[in-house]
Amino acid sequence: MSITSKEIRKKFLDYFSEHSHLILESASLVPINDPTLLVVNSGMAPLKSYFTGEQRPPQQRLCNIQKCVRTNDIESVGDRHHLTFFEMMGNWSIGDYFKEEAVDFAWDLLKNGFGFDLSQMYATVFGGDKKFPAVPPDEESKVAWEKYLPKDRIISLGAKFNFWGPAGDTGPCGPCTEIFIDRGKNYGCGKDSCDPSCNCERFLEIWNAGVFMEYYLDENGNLRELPLKSVDAGAGLDRFAVILQGVDSIYETDLLSPIVEVFAPKDNLESKSVRIMTDHLRCATFMIADGIYPANTKREYIVRRIIRRALLHARLAEKDPESFIRATKVVVELFSPYYPELIRSQGIVEMAIRRETATFGKTLNRGLKELEKVFPKSQEVISGADAFKLYETYGFPLELTKEIAAEKSLKVDEEGYKNQLEKHKERSRQAKGGVQ
Ligand code: ALA
Repeated sequence: MSITSKEIRKKFLDYFSEHSHLILESASLVPINDPTLLVVNSGMAPLKSYFTGEQRPPQQRLCNIQKCVRTNDIESVGDRHHLTFFEMMGNWSIGDYFKEEAVDFAWDLLKNGFGFDLSQMYATVFGGDKKFPAVPPDEESKVAWEKYLPKDRIISLGAKFNFWGPAGDTGPCGPCTEIFIDRGKNYGCGKDSCDPSCNCERFLEIWNAGVFMEYYLDENGNLRELPLKSVDAGAGLDRFAVILQGVDSIYETDLLSPIVEVFAPKDNLESKSVRIMTDHLRCATFMIADGIYPANTKREYIVRRIIRRALLHARLAEKDPESFIRATKVVVELFSPYYPELIRSQGIVEMAIRRETATFGKTLNRGLKELEKVFPKSQEVISGADAFKLYETYGFPLELTKEIAAEKSLKVDEEGYKNQLEKHKERSRQAKGGVQ
């Protein structure tokens, strides 16, 4: 293997440490004193109070590798690059260097540190957006990139792509500049218009080389300027490994392939269900190790949903859920050198996963049988009433009904489902009122 993930971690941290950044430990996935977030979703999330100026950082330059969970892209897991759990390699300037230096660091490390093939590289910058009329197009980052890249590989995009944050409902945010690797036409949609803003898999974002944290978004949706101009940069370790290890997808890197092997022989790397189980079991192991146990409340529901979705895919791929326990052991083996809490929590992780798979396994069987009855009478759409019955009678979550329906090219009437849910709540309220 050209470069191992262990070497990537070391090279990243060594580089920034040599450039006066203090190395921090990864924080827990449970946010501390932050009601705007259910789980830590980025390297900067635990550091927010430094960006707002509420707390003084131990040093103005910081770096680390932070465990993160993001479920907004959960439907895309199973493609080459999307994950629910990932490790973000981050570097930060809290009121120290700004745009030009952030770009210089990223370029230097990619070129001289890692030896990336830079002829495939594109950068995107904030080009202005009606949504944030007070934020000007980011000419400074553009000029910084022009030292290194031809102009046609520097792309200006709107807020959807190049304005990041806040991590949560409110908080620090700002325009950003991102680095993409062109993986070649074979990976893409083939359209002439295909560029880093395209949804296909041709252009892979490998590094948000700088969110320029100058603003704070408040609860009314207004931006105000922060007292400091800071940089929040983050790169996904798994994606670096894809490119540097010269493999097709994250599932072939040394970070995930040993987990894949629990579920499937090497020739079955493209099975969506195997990929989903692999990602979800890693995510669930890390979440439970940080004390997030499956349940129906907020962040606990995230881990419940992930395990249940993995279980559905185990059923689809005809895998024994006992393989989940083997997968968690592999996760602990692979990642405990960096996250020792995994060793301490191994027993609890196994117990929580066994309990969840045992209880939901029964629900899943009943729900799947019931769905078999629903399919023939649904033309293109499963009715809201049927989806709600599955939920109410069998505890079958809407997301899973949608997912199984999609396998059969069916949709679910979500509006109808919500109406039924509202009616059900109303009935419960009335019943309660009657008793009192
Ligand atoms: N916080 C930035 C991101 O997550 C770096 O992309």
